[in-house]
Amino acid sequence: MTIILFGASGMLGSDIEKYLTKKNISIISLDSTSCDITDKNKVLSIIAEYPKSSIVINCAAYTNVDKAETDKKQAKRINTIGAQHIAEACKLHHKTLIHFSTDYVFNGNKTDPYIESDPPSPISHYGHTKYEAEQVIQSICTKYYIIRVQWLYGKNGQHFIKSMKRLFKQHESLRIVNDQWGSPTSTASLAQYIHTFITKKPSYGVYHCRNDGYTTWYDFAVFLAQQFQYKGSITPIPSTQFPRPAKRPLNGRLNIDKITQTLQIKPIPWKEAVLRYINSAK
Ligand SMILES: NC(=O)c1ccc[n+]([C@@H]2O[C@H](COP(=O)([O-])OP(=O)(O)OC[C@H]3O[C@@H](n4cnc5c(N)ncnc54)[C@H](OP(=O)(O)O)[C@@H]3O)[C@@H](O)[C@H]2O)c1
Repeated sequence: MTIILFGASGMLGSDIEKYLTKKNISIISLDSTSCDITDKNKVLSIIAEYPKSSIVINCAAYTNVDKAETDKKQAKRINTIGAQHIAEACKLHHKTLIHFSTDYVFNGNKTDPYIESDPPSPISHYGHTKYEAEQVIQSICTKYYIIRVQWLYGKNGQHFIKSMKRLFKQHESLRIVNDQWGSPTSTASLAQYIHTFITKKPSYGVYHCRNDGYTTWYDFAVFLAQQFQYKGSITPIPSTQFPRPAKRPLNGRLNIDKITQTLQIKPIPWKEAVLRYINSAK
């Protein structure tokens, strides 16, 4: 089997590439240099070049959520228009598209965890561009999986665990927001679930995917402090005391009943996944 992978140099893309290669799947790895997804002709020609591949995975995205608030055009060009180019090429060449989206398509006002059919209502420009990509893919393709993920960390990227490790060394006290909820999710875990998608071929559509259990950034930081033997203090604060250019949903919790029942998987608890990541990085 051959799979075309956009965003192979990114945090999620690199772990997907690694895992699928181990499973003897041949990967055509693309980054922004080998194929800029904002270039429609390039995307079309790359996908046409590999007639034997039946699946395209898109991990390419503009992921700087705060910068997207001012760099609006470029965020939309990559997240929405780029996704549209890939969707059009997949449609033309009869390929299945696996595309990643985010909990930031929701406004966070719901009291329960979000299910796949809840209406999105993004509160940041990044969230808008990702939601528009979902709509574009759904209007172009029939063979697609849109997989909403959140709070990712992995070997090949910048993320909360790496930031906290740095901050633990630099500061004797830290203030971390405790009113945003979600699930820290390892890209290594996601790579396994993507492999299950490819092998089990469930019904096309939107799926939520994450490690098991919910937490806040504050509780996540406290857990990391224990692992890294941080001796300083961590104070919980509301998001209002830590203003950022892009608004984040307070409730980003994603219900994963659909994926766990469809694929018959039991995601590993987030703390266990974090420990695996820390141990593998040693
Ligand atoms: N990180 C998170 O916490 C998080 C949360 C929710 C959803 N997601 C979604 O998950 C997916 C993967 O995210 P990630 O964190 O792995 O992203 P990432 O580490 O920032 O990687 C982004 C990838 O996109 C590529 N890229 C950027 N602009 C491109 C362009 N114009 N043409 C082609 N490729 C381009 C980059 O290639 P270069 O290296 O060549 O620039 C890189 O390979 C994205 O769809 C993101 O929206 C992420």
